[in-house]
Amino acid sequence: YGDASQKIDYVFKVVLIGDSAVGKSQILSRFARNEFTLDSKATIGVEFQTRTLVIQHKSVKAQIWDTAGQERVLLWYRAVTSAYYRGAVGAMLVYDITKRQTFDHIPRWLEELRGHADKNIVIILIGNKSDLENQRAVPTEDAKEFAQKEELFFLETSALESTNVESAFLTVLTEIF
Ligand code: GTP
Ligand code: MG
Repeated sequence: YGDASQKIDYVFKVVLIGDSAVGKSQILSRFARNEFTLDSKATIGVEFQTRTLVIQHKSVKAQIWDTAGQERVLLWYRAVTSAYYRGAVGAMLVYDITKRQTFDHIPRWLEELRGHADKNIVIILIGNKSDLENQRAVPTEDAKEFAQKEELFFLETSALESTNVESAFLTVLTEIF
């Protein structure tokens, strides 16, 4: 979990996007601090956290940006939308496997991302809350198919159970590398 004294070879900016309450902030807090909060508050504005890790013998500082998924809020912050995506080399497009609507909105998020971000940005589609299998509303196959069509990486994660969170970040960071 990072050592402030080590020398940094690369800094990679990665952005989290997706509807409100899909678990973006909890995915980030699981990755950056190995923490999870069940009653986490909706994000207001923009926040970021970093974690330094070693990939192929180089120390990589991952700078992960997180913002509000709420459309209302997003409109207020339209002015900072470009700043949010600027310089990002990776993106995590998150939906909630128990809320069909959050998956149905993914094409819109992808459009916004492709409209603002660098052409070569590495994108992973993430179906979060895989621990709630009994409430599943989005079949894994649907997401897999969409990801294949759009040439995105894809994983289902659980920030709560810590499933695949590390793999999701490593997939993106390694591919950028
Ligand atoms: P905004 O900041 O409003 O855009 O939402 P967000 O996407 O950051 O969602 P957040 O991380 O705040 O999580 C929303 C709710 O889902 C919280 O109550 C979390 O505890 C819960 N949550 C997040 N990840 C998981 C998960 O993997 N499993 C379960 N069961 N709940 C989760
Ligand atoms: Mg949040």
